[in-house]
Amino acid sequence: MSKKISIIKPDDWHLHLRDGDALNTTVAFSAKQFQRAIVMPNLAQAIVNTELALQYRQRIINARPEGNNFQPLMTIYLTDNTRVEDIRSACDNEFIFAAKLYPAGATTNSSNGVTDISQLSAVLEAMQAGKLPLLVHAEVTEQEVDIFDREEVFIDRYLNEIRQQFPELRIVLEHATTKQAIDFVEANDNTGATLTPQHLLYNRNDLLAGGIRPHNYCLPILKREEHRQALLKAATSGSPKFFLGTDSAPHAINAKEANCGCAGCFSAHAAIELYCEIFEQAGALNKFEAFSSFYGADFYGLERNTDVITLVKEEWSAPESYPFADQAIRPFRQDTPLQWKII
Ligand code: DOR
Ligand code: ZN
Repeated sequence: MSKKISIIKPDDWHLHLRDGDALNTTVAFSAKQFQRAIVMPNLAQAIVNTELALQYRQRIINARPEGNNFQPLMTIYLTDNTRVEDIRSACDNEFIFAAKLYPAGATTNSSNGVTDISQLSAVLEAMQAGKLPLLVHAEVTEQEVDIFDREEVFIDRYLNEIRQQFPELRIVLEHATTKQAIDFVEANDNTGATLTPQHLLYNRNDLLAGGIRPHNYCLPILKREEHRQALLKAATSGSPKFFLGTDSAPHAINAKEANCGCAGCFSAHAAIELYCEIFEQAGALNKFEAFSSFYGADFYGLERNTDVITLVKEEWSAPESYPFADQAIRPFRQDTPLQWKII
């Protein structure tokens, strides 16, 4: 008989669903395996306030498969123009769960992000008072900083200071990619991190050695093996500071295989299967459920889920592409058969 594992239904604490017709692809994939997801606000027209977040939430709900109860947990996008009133309104709204800090220019649709983090004090103060978690894309954007160092430099230059100034503010260092990020999270209270399948599975050789692989390009960029090892150790350590966040971020194939290709890996077609494989390979299947289904909810102060999903050890291959609005997306790690399947 094939090996099986049942876990409480997981949540995805970092997800890009996009908008418009793309929702007809993205929502169903996530809804199949996850009960809830923290939905990133970096649309072409950024979700900068409660009103936009509620409208976006409704579009996501409308795209849910019949009978599915997937819950999008909305976030707002911080800009140079975010006002304390915007934060208060988000804190008071039952559908808004966090605010996201994108340094301007750090990644996809971040041009409206924050240009001067030192100007954010009043906003962060209001978030701390209103218990709204701060989700951080922790990379500097200064051109002179090497792309492989941008996470570490962001922590040194900005995050340490924010952490000290607002000790009660809950901070999630999103998609952590370096051992410095892991050390920072471990050393500080009220601090957690999401870990993605791509950063747990791959190092920068998988992006660049023997040919460039645009579908493994994401931001923060894949790092050296020693960093991947640090992430893997954190994920499988049983520490409640580290939890599942896919950063599944679809871009049409022609936008990734391009002269200037977009950053992002679409992993939502098989996210929980990929994490299961990661934990199995690390000999840590006994830590898989808490990482996937408990620690994120605990960090956000939400109830844990009660439904159960079952995975069976069975090889299968994702198709070369899925339709995506009027284009197509290539699933992450399409060239390698998946080892687990949800039943
Ligand atoms: O690779 C990434 N893609 N990193 C991000 O931070 C954003 C995301 C996207 O929205 O495409
Ligand atoms: Zn992201």
